Formats: sequence, C-alpha cells, structure tokens
Amino acid sequence: MNYSIPSDALQGKIILVTGAGDGIGKQAALSYAQHGATVILLGRTVKKLEQTYDEIEAQGFPQPAIIPLDMKGASKQNYLDMADTIGSQFGRLDGVLHNASLLGVLSPFDQISEATYDDLMQVNVKAQFLMTQAILPLLHKSNHASLIFTSSTVGHSGRAFWGTYAMSKFATEGMMQVLADELSDSHIRVNAINPGGTRTGMRAKAYPAEDADLLKTPLEIMPLYLYLMSNQSQDITGQCIDAQPKK
Ligand SMILES: NC(=O)c1ccc[n+]([C@@H]2O[C@H](COP(=O)([O-])OP(=O)(O)OC[C@H]3O[C@@H](n4cnc5c(N)ncnc54)[C@H](OP(=O)(O)O)[C@@H]3O)[C@@H](O)[C@H]2O)c1
Repeated sequence: MNYSIPSDALQGKIILVTGAGDGIGKQAALSYAQHGATVILLGRTVKKLEQTYDEIEAQGFPQPAIIPLDMKGASKQNYLDMADTIGSQFGRLDGVLHNASLLGVLSPFDQISEATYDDLMQVNVKAQFLMTQAILPLLHKSNHASLIFTSSTVGHSGRAFWGTYAMSKFATEGMMQVLADELSDSHIRVNAINPGGTRTGMRAKAYPAEDADLLKTPLEIMPLYLYLMSNQSQDITGQCIDAQPKK
C-alpha cells in the first residue's frame, strides 16, 4: 500500500515514543515531529535522547520532552509517576509507539539462560504492559488515539534459535489484539507494526554477516508509522501490518 501523508498530518498531537534514542524509534520521533507532533522521547540512554531532542529542535519542529527511563528496572509506580508527569504537562496522549526492545542472544532453546529470558520478557512485554495500564487514562482523553506496538516476523511465526525474542513478540501481538478488542468501542485504536529487516544496531547484531546496504533504512519504512499515527487510520484496529510487505 502507498501511504500519502500530508506534512501536517500530526499537527497538535502529543506522541510518546519508547526507544527514541536510536534506530527506528529515533527516526519515528523525528518523523512524527516533522509532521507537527510534540514528541515525548523515552529511553534509557540520556545522551542519545538528547541527540534526538537536539535534531528536532535544530529543524524547528515542536519542542519535544525527554523521559529517561530504563524499562528493565522500572516499576509499576515509575510508570504511574510518568503518566502523572505527562498528564500535568500535556493533559492527554494522542499516540504511543511501543518501540524499545531487546534482542538478547540468539541460541538453541535449551541454552537460553533464565536471566536472558527474564530481561527480555521484562523489557519487551511486562514494561509495555505496565506502561500501557498507566497511560490508558491519558489516551482516553484524546479524540483519536493510536497505540502502536512493534512486532516482528518471528512474532507470528516461530523460528529456531530466536528463543525469547520470538516469544516476547508473540506476547506483544497478543497484548495488541486483547486491547484492540477491549477498546473497540472507544476512541483508541490499537495496532502493531512489523518493520521487516531494517538497517539498525539490532539488525546488525542479529545478522552480523549481511550487507546492511541492502536493507531499508528506518526513514524508508516511516510511511506506515506515520499513517498509523495519523487520523487517516482511525478505522483500523487489531491489525499487525508489515512495513515491508512481500511483493
Ligand atoms: N531492525 C529490524 O530489522 C527490526 C525487525 C523487526 C522488528 N524490529 C523491532 O523494531 C523495534 C526497534 O528496533 P531497532 O532495530 O530500532 O533496535 P535498536 O536500534 O536496538 O533500538 C532499540 C531501542 O530500544 C531502546 N531500549 C532497549 N532496552 C531498553 C530499556 N531497558 N529501556 C529503555 N529503552 C530501551 C534502546 O535504547 P539505547 O539506545 O539506550 O540502547 C534503543 O533506543 C524493536 O521493537 C525491534 O524488536 C526491528
């Protein structure tokens, strides 16, 4: 599908992006800001978030905000406090891109350590669960809210050696479907994006030997990210959509 996104498609929207300091999340934050949104940049490495912030400011896009948070250690109370802060500063949320994830180590199933399993399930699943619970009241305050999860090809078709990462993405798609069904009579739509192979640090870690120049850049997959965040997609919910569909 070809998405045609007007330059003011996200004008006035307040959008939270997790993992906004690197890779796809950084590009999504820049693209959302470029299309008029005030973006809240969440991530664990403050220096990287500041770089995203500076790039947004330098281009004259709406002034963003930064929330430094390590989703590995964050508690339910941390997410409630975060929601309070966003609520008092902005009053509502029009969009959330759950993008931050860990890949972990690709290995045979019987060699997955309990620590790796716990870390990935914490960052990729439980953190998103707790964060979503905390921010739902803010999404209900928007006229058209979009909640976007990030899945993967191994999130709907298991693959050898992708272990906990694949299991966490199945759980992510499950969370998206449960929420979409539950919120079907509300103004909140819930979808997931499967980015497909994209030129980032995570991809390089998973496929160290491949020629990264053959991969799409984060910028090239942005049309779907913009479409699902804009009101153009307001009737779409419960879908996992490929940013790079097979031709
Ligand atoms: N790239 C691909 O080919 C591909 C394919 C399918 C799905 N995906 C999915 O797309 C999303 C983005 O991936 P990417 O390739 O852009 O990955 P990336 O370059 O590794 O970026 C991941 C981001 O998540 C953040 N993050 C990791 N752990 C965190 C934690 N504990 N607390 C807060 N933030 C944390 C990272 O923060 P730091 O910058 O501080 O490390 C980074 O900003 C992920 O959900 C991934 O599973 C990617």
